[in-house]
Amino acid sequence: MSNIVIVGTQWGDEGKGKIVDQLAENADMVVRFQGGNNAGHTMVVKGEQIICHLIPSGIIQGKTCMIGNGVVVDPAVLISEMDNLASKGINAGPENLLISERAQIIMPWHKSIDNARETMKGIKKIGTTGRGIGPCYEDKMNRSGIRFVELLDTEEFEENVREVLKEKNFYLEKYLNAEPLDPETVIKEYLGYAKRLAAHVKNISVIINNGIKAGKKVMFEGAQGTHLDIDHGTYPFVTSSNTVAGNACCGAGVGPKELGEVLGIVKAYTTRVGAGPFPSELFDDVGNKIQEVGAEFGATTGRKRRCGWLDMVILKNAAILNGLTGITITKLDVLGGLDTLKICTGYDCKGEIMDTFPASLKKLAKCKPIYENLPGWTEDISGVRNYDDLPENAKNYLKRIEELLEIPIKIISVGPDREETMVIDNPFV
Ligand code: GDP
Ligand code: IMO
Ligand code: MG
Repeated sequence: MSNIVIVGTQWGDEGKGKIVDQLAENADMVVRFQGGNNAGHTMVVKGEQIICHLIPSGIIQGKTCMIGNGVVVDPAVLISEMDNLASKGINAGPENLLISERAQIIMPWHKSIDNARETMKGIKKIGTTGRGIGPCYEDKMNRSGIRFVELLDTEEFEENVREVLKEKNFYLEKYLNAEPLDPETVIKEYLGYAKRLAAHVKNISVIINNGIKAGKKVMFEGAQGTHLDIDHGTYPFVTSSNTVAGNACCGAGVGPKELGEVLGIVKAYTTRVGAGPFPSELFDDVGNKIQEVGAEFGATTGRKRRCGWLDMVILKNAAILNGLTGITITKLDVLGGLDTLKICTGYDCKGEIMDTFPASLKKLAKCKPIYENLPGWTEDISGVRNYDDLPENAKNYLKRIEELLEIPIKIISVGPDREETMVIDNPFV
């Protein structure tokens, strides 16, 4: 009996939500440990789509879902997500949705600063989701953040908001040319959220650890992807948290020995939303076709996702950084109908052949992908439920990925619906 961490291996949107929902059948608790509502995790059950930005993707399986201390929470978004689920008959009440008392709160100034900075950066912008994620993590680190425990202490919260806003309003007005915020309006709005959310706020670290002791199974749900990690990603075109599996410990409050399996979610090709390097990006009709067939639009911002071939350099990096014990390949169906499939096996950086990911973005910009060609298939595979029934060329594509990565494929996804999945070797039973 082992717990499991689910992480994105590329630049996010690999299909983590679908797989968490599917595997959550065997979970007792599902915990988000980092990120915020920059994430958009899509689940489809019997044709009905639900997108969660903050609430763990175990919620529609009726599991105990928790938002860890490592998450930054926009309470208005959380409440609207809870209401949306309730309108569909899915319970996200205090019995099965818990929030860490130590989770940081996204305040209105975080969103204003995020957006005003991006405007100021112009073409050099990061392409953030504009949800205030970076500025909230910044304040956490500089120790001026506000956590749920402070929000629930009205006096302390009021004092905090008035104090912090002195500095933030100066910065907003004088440096960013943005509108200042009125502390009393912010206080009133957020005390309303406090009232609504108070019953959900707990010490979730203790609850998870007691659960583990009692034999409960925990799934840790990562957001974003390995190459958006603040330390290991394509800095500065990254998000502001550690997205790798190890951060499940810090962000949920458990020890490293409790993590168990680490399942990396791999999209059968590569996508990226927002700015930043992307060596195997396609700028031709093939890229457009993948974007269209894969419906590659951001689940949070609706932006078109950039598309490209599968890149083994980044996948090998993800294998090391996360300690992957298995992978899931998603969206294999999208590649049907392409004559030739390419897998990037290394980079040619002005004659230097590289199979590791350079830290320097200048160097990365000079890297040209080295491709291996594989024949495609024409069949629609979305109805296939047994590995043996896949077209030979689809099997060869999967085998080649396994060979190059040296990590077993445990699950294959051929459509957005929970049912459109082939479990080869369930990593969480
Ligand atoms: P996440 O952020 O990693 O949870 O991924 P997103 O939900 O942002 O994006 C994945 C998109 O692909 C969603 O629209 C899913 O419904 C969809 N999806 C997931 N798996 C598959 C699959 O195997 N095939 C197809 N065609 N779509 C999929
Ligand atoms: P899920 O969990 C894809 C990207 C943004 C931008 C960069 C920084 O759905 O896979 P931020 O708002 O975090 O400061 O933006 O990170 N980004 C994502 N891209 N999927 C996500 O989450 C993302 N979360 C953030 O587009 O490039
Ligand atoms: Mg997403």
